[in-house]
Amino acid sequence: MRAPHILALANQKGGVGKTTTAINLAAGLAAQGFSVLLIDLDPQGNASTGLGVGYDSRRLGSYALLTDDTASASLIQATEIPGLSIIAADTELAGAELELVAQDRREFCLRDAIARISGGFDVILVDCPPSLGLLTLNALVAATGVVVPLQCEFFALEGISQLVRTVDRVRRAFNGGLHVAGIVLTMYDRRNNLSELVAEDARGFFGAQVMDTLIPRNIRISEAQSHGRPAMAYDPKSSGAAAYQAMADELVTRLGLTSKKAIGA
Ligand SMILES: Nc1ncnc2c1ncn2[C@@H]1O[C@H](COP(=O)(O)OP(=O)(O)OP(=O)(O)O)[C@@H](O)[C@H]1O
Ligand SMILES: [Mg+2]
Repeated sequence: MRAPHILALANQKGGVGKTTTAINLAAGLAAQGFSVLLIDLDPQGNASTGLGVGYDSRRLGSYALLTDDTASASLIQATEIPGLSIIAADTELAGAELELVAQDRREFCLRDAIARISGGFDVILVDCPPSLGLLTLNALVAATGVVVPLQCEFFALEGISQLVRTVDRVRRAFNGGLHVAGIVLTMYDRRNNLSELVAEDARGFFGAQVMDTLIPRNIRISEAQSHGRPAMAYDPKSSGAAAYQAMADELVTRLGLTSKKAIGA
């Protein structure tokens, strides 16, 4: 069995679309026939809420995954989307950032845990909190690639050089294979010149690392989250659902994956 692609959704800037991209990319990949696991590594638990996992179903999740060697596949929950599973953020995750400091191999907790549970998944997505602390570091050490959502607004590029430096450091110190799988421009508004300028700047700096697919600002995307569903399930005809499906398809090509739908698997 092939090792899964493990993609960390990371940007230390808050509210740029990490969670939204994690949920909808996960659904888009599942729609292509891949077996996908989303790990909610953000104490805010937005990915868990956005995929319909209520608070009473969050007793054991990513905190147990990180801190308990015996925790295993039982942490994985099915979602209503065929092919998409989740490890939710449990309430204790808020303390993990501090607790992990004292743990052996503290940067490797997630990598070790994923090695225990990853059998059968084609892609594992890790939704990171808006910081470059130990949780995000664990995600970057475990990951094969990073997906960086970049919100099309003023200051978008600020701080991204810090993220890129962190990715370089993690590559040198812990994870030689880590690469930027894609920078995705989110909340793009064609009526706003600023969106166009940010897109140009991003392409100027990062070239082909910036994905071709633009994610438009679309109210259906955020409505879908409040209903605990990906946009594709909430309103498949919406521009947001179409854009995220296109982004998932582009990523499949970029990663050299073969669509399971295409080969009828
Ligand atoms: N393309 C979009 N169109 C409209 N609203 C969007 C879009 N993408 C994200 N949003 C909304 O913007 C807000 C921030 O998005 P999201 O939670 O995905 O960002 P984040 O980077 O995960 O935030 P945090 O750093 O707090 O984890 C949410 O309310 C979400 O519903
Ligand atoms: Mg988030």
